[in-house]
Amino acid sequence: MAETRTIGIFGAGWVGLVTGGCFAELGHEVIVRDVMPERIAALEAGRMPFHEADLPEVLERNRERIRYTLDADDLAEADALFICVQTPPTYSGDADLSYVWTALDHLPRVDRRQILVMKSTVPVGTGEKVRAALQARDLTEAGYVSNPEFLAEGHAVRDFLNPDRIVIGSFAEEDGAAVEALYDGIEAPVVRTDVASAEMIKLAANAFLMTRISFINEIANVCEAVGADVVEVAHGIGLDHRLGKHFLRAGIGYGGSCFPKDSLALKQLASNSGYHFQLLAAVIEVNELQKRRVIQKLQKHLGKLRGKKVALLGLAFKAGTDDLREAPSLVLASRLLAEGAEVRAWDPVARPGELMKGAVLSDTVLDAVRGADAAVIVTEWDELRGLASREVQEAMAHPLIIDGRNLLDPAEARSAGFAYEGIGRPSSPFEGLPETAEPEQRVSR
Ligand code: UGA
Repeated sequence: MAETRTIGIFGAGWVGLVTGGCFAELGHEVIVRDVMPERIAALEAGRMPFHEADLPEVLERNRERIRYTLDADDLAEADALFICVQTPPTYSGDADLSYVWTALDHLPRVDRRQILVMKSTVPVGTGEKVRAALQARDLTEAGYVSNPEFLAEGHAVRDFLNPDRIVIGSFAEEDGAAVEALYDGIEAPVVRTDVASAEMIKLAANAFLMTRISFINEIANVCEAVGADVVEVAHGIGLDHRLGKHFLRAGIGYGGSCFPKDSLALKQLASNSGYHFQLLAAVIEVNELQKRRVIQKLQKHLGKLRGKKVALLGLAFKAGTDDLREAPSLVLASRLLAEGAEVRAWDPVARPGELMKGAVLSDTVLDAVRGADAAVIVTEWDELRGLASREVQEAMAHPLIIDGRNLLDPAEARSAGFAYEGIGRPSSPFEGLPETAEPEQRVSR
């Protein structure tokens, strides 16, 4: 068990609440500060502002140890102040640090050492800039530590309490040691390093994960051309302990609030320093093209998409979340609408609203696929595992499944009477268009 400390958190967003809740779980006193009154009021009333597994329970269990406030001066009693604010991309692709600077503007004035801990994902060099800013404001007693988060949506609490590693970059040894002590009770290797390297570890880890995804997506595309099955290939690759099995699921490309933004930020960071990060540029481009490949697969079977009814099944950028940020579903819907298709969409939790203007949201999978010429699996929700059913086959005008997540067994889907296309898997032969199709819409294999 860690020695009890008081921890202040700037930002009651996803990272801030997971961090605060988990530190309270370790026995610390936590004060979470946000600028949005309605968010603070909701949290005080026990209402969650977003969907994240286990987080409501953690916050509820530790209610006695967590306070929410709008007043940054309440953070004066904290031993460490974690900055957990957004760093969205600017037009130039750089990370927008304005929320970080605003948090600095609100730092409480104290006459003892307080450590500022950066959890938000920031460009390399931010720590140096913050240190200079603290000095310029005469906050010479404030320490600074970079302690990036490696939390994935949907299992962030688990990731916090059972991490692969804890990365702590500090200017002063004692500040790093003090932050390390906050994690007592968690079993994990601790990487103690300088601030710039800690900042780079976070960006490089995400970039490498994205590289694996774009790599396997390109292998998938080659598999399609040569008749191999990427699911088998990924399994065969992943058993090599030097390579590992994770992040080798081919699909319709990565999305979410982190990967797209962090890849741009790292590419931009490199080019601002005079270096063209070619590999990362390719990773990003492959991902953009990957989202659009579904359109070609639809065209292969349906010809022109004008007037065709397409059901998009799953809208969130991955299962287990209602997050639509940079979700491939948004690109797909907009491309399909631009081609003149009718788009029906279904998701168990994500509600796109204006983001998917022109698409009709259905309450059930069956409603979405009724009369459809194709059903596209966009998010790997468990509810879609049974999609290749008789009921669905009979409801569709043309029983075609494009499985953007390789969720179904191709042989089972075909024997259930569907034309089936996965990603990087042997595909169904072209089986003709629905009766109503115009002759010029026909395409050959
Ligand atoms: C990611 C990282 O996994 C976390 O370690 C990191 O802390 C976080 O970003 C962040 O920087 O804050 P997250 O965006 O929640 O977490 O989601 P992931 O589970 O990593 O998935 C990202 C995207 O990659 C999703 O669109 C997912 O569908 C896709 N993906 C993932 C694949 O296409 N194939 C795979 O094999 C794995």
